Amino acid sequence: MTSETAPEIPAHVPSELVRHLDIRNDPDVLADPWAAVDRLREDAPLLWSPELGSHWIVTSAELVRQVLQTPDAFPNYPSGLPVIEGAWPRKLVPLQLDGDEHTRYRRLLTPLFSPRAIRPLTDLVREHATRIITSFAGDDRVEFHSQLAIPLPSVVFLGIFGIPVEQMDTFQSWVFGLLHSGDPEAAAAAGAEITGYLAEAVADRMREPREDLISELAQMEVDGRPLTAEELLDMSFLLFLAGLDTVSNQLSVITMHLARDPGQQQALRDDPSLIENAVEELLRLHAIAPLTRTVGRDFTLNGVRLRKGDRMLLSTPAAGRDPAAYDDPLTARFDRANNSSAAFGLGPHRCAGMHLARQELRIVLELMTTLVPPFRLAPGARWQWHAGEIWGLDRLDLEFVR
Ligand code: HEM
Repeated sequence: MTSETAPEIPAHVPSELVRHLDIRNDPDVLADPWAAVDRLREDAPLLWSPELGSHWIVTSAELVRQVLQTPDAFPNYPSGLPVIEGAWPRKLVPLQLDGDEHTRYRRLLTPLFSPRAIRPLTDLVREHATRIITSFAGDDRVEFHSQLAIPLPSVVFLGIFGIPVEQMDTFQSWVFGLLHSGDPEAAAAAGAEITGYLAEAVADRMREPREDLISELAQMEVDGRPLTAEELLDMSFLLFLAGLDTVSNQLSVITMHLARDPGQQQALRDDPSLIENAVEELLRLHAIAPLTRTVGRDFTLNGVRLRKGDRMLLSTPAAGRDPAAYDDPLTARFDRANNSSAAFGLGPHRCAGMHLARQELRIVLELMTTLVPPFRLAPGARWQWHAGEIWGLDRLDLEFVR
């Protein structure tokens, strides 16, 4: 890069911490995102990149924890990397709210996805997962991502949410366009489709509640008044993206791990009681949701001065593999005692849907190690990583070993 085009480095950023790295799009990152952030963490726990609007990159478990657990100094608004002014007409409820304002709305979501609330869904998830896995159990190969990882969480979520499962392919194409197409025009068009659709669904449930999650939200109150159509649209939008995208990517990423590690796959076949801890361990090792924050006031982190308004990328994928926090971090040990991580975030914004996500991950691991023969990556399998707001892959070809 020439000195004329190089973005300016702010005076408070020590030059030895500057790396010209596009953490989402550089070929090095897309070749293997986790390996790329491992290298960054080995380099330093806190770095500055002038790309993507310029931002700090936090890679150590301890510093990621400190930032997430000091929300008064690191608000969640504005968010995005780079920040796109006007991407949403207001602060997105509840993700981009902070402090008490956030708590007032988050309180409404927490009980909807509590362990008690999602327990009755166990049979439903198992039923759908069994149906899908049985459909390919007799084949030699499966393209796991499109055959199971995408449809399973979508069928479960759309059913709870109350919008037609029959339109799943259309919804999925919108979600892909918005989150993974890498094309700003396609993303804007897909975002408009989603908000248009959800605005109608919200208006409909406000007029005429049904037995679904949107209607349940529409009957809730904040500050002694019903939620407005805009607040309901925000929450629905967030849940729609989380419900249709995150679990799918996590499922494929951890299934890829098992396909590449026959010994550990066998360990789960031999002892299914390991599955619960295996899910936590694989979430630690393959976290898919790096987070962004803004520096809310001048702050010193790890001896480095951060200035109000600086942007932060918190690499939860790097933090989960930090040797300062975990022994032998790159090995998945299903009997590891300490595998708690920031895979679902930490602090006030910690994932509202994590119990549902864990339940789906556990059931799929259980069924993929009982209903089908051992699996491995199919010969010649090719895939592409995406490393934006949610990491994942575009396909996962597995071969069954009979
Ligand atoms: C494996 C799957 C999932 C992963 C890895 C994941 C990850 C995360 C992370 C890291 C956050 C924190 C965001 C932040 O601090 O800025 C978050 C927040 C959130 N997640 Fe998830 N998530 C998953 C599944 C789900 C599901 C299934 C739902 C609901 C259907 C959901 C709903 C939410 C909501 C509503 C928030 C915002 C919470 C708030 O701002 O208070 N997530 N998720």
